[in-house]
Amino acid sequence: MATDFNLNDRSNLLNAIGETPIVKLNKVVPYNAAEVWVKLEGLNPTGSYKDRMAVSILSNALMRGDVKPGENVVEYTGGSTGTSLAFVSAVLDLKFTAVFSDAFSKTKQQSMEAFGAEVIVIESGDGNISPNLIQIMKNKAYELAEKPGTFYADQFGSPDIKKGYESLGMEIVNQVEGEVDVLCSAVGTGGALMGTYSGFVKSGMQPQLIALEPLQSPILTKGKGGSHKVEGIGLGFEPPFLDKEKLDDVRAIDQEKAFDMCRILAKEEGIFGGGSTGLNICAAIEIAKEIGPGKKIVTLNCDNGLKYLGSHIYS
Ligand SMILES: Cc1ncc(COP(=O)(O)O)c(C=O)c1O
Repeated sequence: MATDFNLNDRSNLLNAIGETPIVKLNKVVPYNAAEVWVKLEGLNPTGSYKDRMAVSILSNALMRGDVKPGENVVEYTGGSTGTSLAFVSAVLDLKFTAVFSDAFSKTKQQSMEAFGAEVIVIESGDGNISPNLIQIMKNKAYELAEKPGTFYADQFGSPDIKKGYESLGMEIVNQVEGEVDVLCSAVGTGGALMGTYSGFVKSGMQPQLIALEPLQSPILTKGKGGSHKVEGIGLGFEPPFLDKEKLDDVRAIDQEKAFDMCRILAKEEGIFGGGSTGLNICAAIEIAKEIGPGKKIVTLNCDNGLKYLGSHIYS
């Protein structure tokens, strides 16, 4: 029975989530800079750190009785969260409906469908992710969530999200020798960055915290969203989980530099990621040059480049 889900049961695929490796960048960081360490979250079962939040939301919802096996879960998604929710739903005997758009990569739609999800595609018109498009997707998801026997996963509000990412921070503290000076990562909801930071703090470490966004959608640095092509981040509204009081800095990075970095990373370091990973590493290298040798920066490889093979990044 799905509700008997047990984290210590090695026969359950959900236990393959987390405990990902971390690596130091060797070639793309100049010698007179700080070390940059990258947590390889693309090695989670669906190729994304979102698996951590999906298992946290759905296992807690089942435990509380907010959803029962056989019932439907709904969410609007650019596909990474959706794929993780579809995967976890499949294992836990739940149905999943994703409100998606053709502005996001087709392979993400196919992954959700492979895990048995129903995918409703909203036409973007120009292929860009824009605040208006996100609003239309949201309205559709809210409408579907009204149906009886439907659980709204609530990737922008669920209290289980940050908890799901705490393990990420705790793992890093165990993996990297000595102090981590800076933790930086791009924000969509801000759940991964704040949850990871909370894991650091629970392990007794408080690095500087730096949030990142695309220059083309600078809501945090300039108060204004815009259309861009970095999937999963720069959603055009304030990231709901971002606790600005805890931030030491916010940086906006040009998406073209992020996409160039994706291609360089795969060829030079063997790290194969999506646009948000490229953006994270551009910023981490920029910070590494500023703070100099003897310091350590950690950032995240948010997801696996395989998800973007059909997209503009790699074709
Ligand atoms: C590829 C990718 N990178 C980064 C993010 C941002 O993560 P968060 O919403 O936890 O801030 C997302 C979220 O959907 C994503 O899909």
